[in-house]
Amino acid sequence: MRITKKQKYLQNAINSFVYGNCEEVLKQIPNESVDLVVTSPPYADQRDYGSLESSISPDQYVKWFAPKAKEIHRVLKNNGSFVLNINDKVVGGYQHLFVFELVLHLCKKTGFNLVRDYIWYNPATPPNVFSRGGYGRTKKSHEYCFWFSKGPEWTFNLDPIRKPYGKDMLKFLEGKGKGDRNQNTRPSTHNFNCEKVWTNKGGSDPGSVIELGNTNSNDVFAKLCKERGISHPARFPEKLVEFFILSGTKVGDVVLDPFSGSGTTAISAERNGRKWIGIDGNADYCELAAARMEIEFGGESRGD
Ligand SMILES: C[S@@+](CC[C@H](N)C(=O)[O-])C[C@H]1O[C@@H](n2cnc3c(N)ncnc32)[C@H](O)[C@@H]1O
Repeated sequence: MRITKKQKYLQNAINSFVYGNCEEVLKQIPNESVDLVVTSPPYADQRDYGSLESSISPDQYVKWFAPKAKEIHRVLKNNGSFVLNINDKVVGGYQHLFVFELVLHLCKKTGFNLVRDYIWYNPATPPNVFSRGGYGRTKKSHEYCFWFSKGPEWTFNLDPIRKPYGKDMLKFLEGKGKGDRNQNTRPSTHNFNCEKVWTNKGGSDPGSVIELGNTNSNDVFAKLCKERGISHPARFPEKLVEFFILSGTKVGDVVLDPFSGSGTTAISAERNGRKWIGIDGNADYCELAAARMEIEFGGESRGD
């Protein structure tokens, strides 16, 4: 495992954590060389990552992200995808619109196409801790994951992300359920009386809401942080990024995270036989992410 300090040209960034401002580092990565960019950039004004750039104001967010998006678009292969995990913020009493402005910018100006907007629902917060009842609204229990394609075709594998059927559904699929589903007449008049609907495909389409708690406070990275007396305030769960890596790439493809933080994207890519590149503007995070990779995989790369 190798950390490459910022150089003029990156000879081979594959399976490396690269320290630097991603806008600059991305410029050193060749055109159309990446299959999937999946990332969670700093949220507007919310955290101090001790990084090259943090605390971007919501009003400036699109302007800040636009040149990075241009590079992301350039490095992606024509059938590549970009998945953006992001959250918004209440400013002056109302939810700021920068996330939606950014989505419009990415589609209307950068050239991406919106494939699907996913909701990451995190049910794990204690019932009253983040309640916003006193502010005239509920707490926010989801973040967005926008899946964009670069071109008209993109990799998509449904099978690895299928949701296991429930017990009752399995009975129906085995022809042992109560009642006759084929005779079922729905108020919507949809006709489900066809073999295709009642064939066991190994699980159902999981839909666009991903329910996952963020439970990485005891993992290898958290332990390394404790030893070094530092912390990372905003990591996403490995299962979240795995959903997009499994569905949006093939074994051996290249996955890049320009705001890689603790290296979660790289870890998932490695675990699933993909190649990876992680970029972060905090040198400590790059170093600890490399150490995490070494501990989890013993320096053996599965993505080569
Ligand atoms: C929300 S965190 C990403 C966390 C990551 N998904 C994980 O699971 O650990 C955002 C990261 O972006 C980094 N960052 C901020 N500005 C940057 C920039 N201009 N270029 C590269 N990294 C940057 C921060 O250091 C931080 O680690």
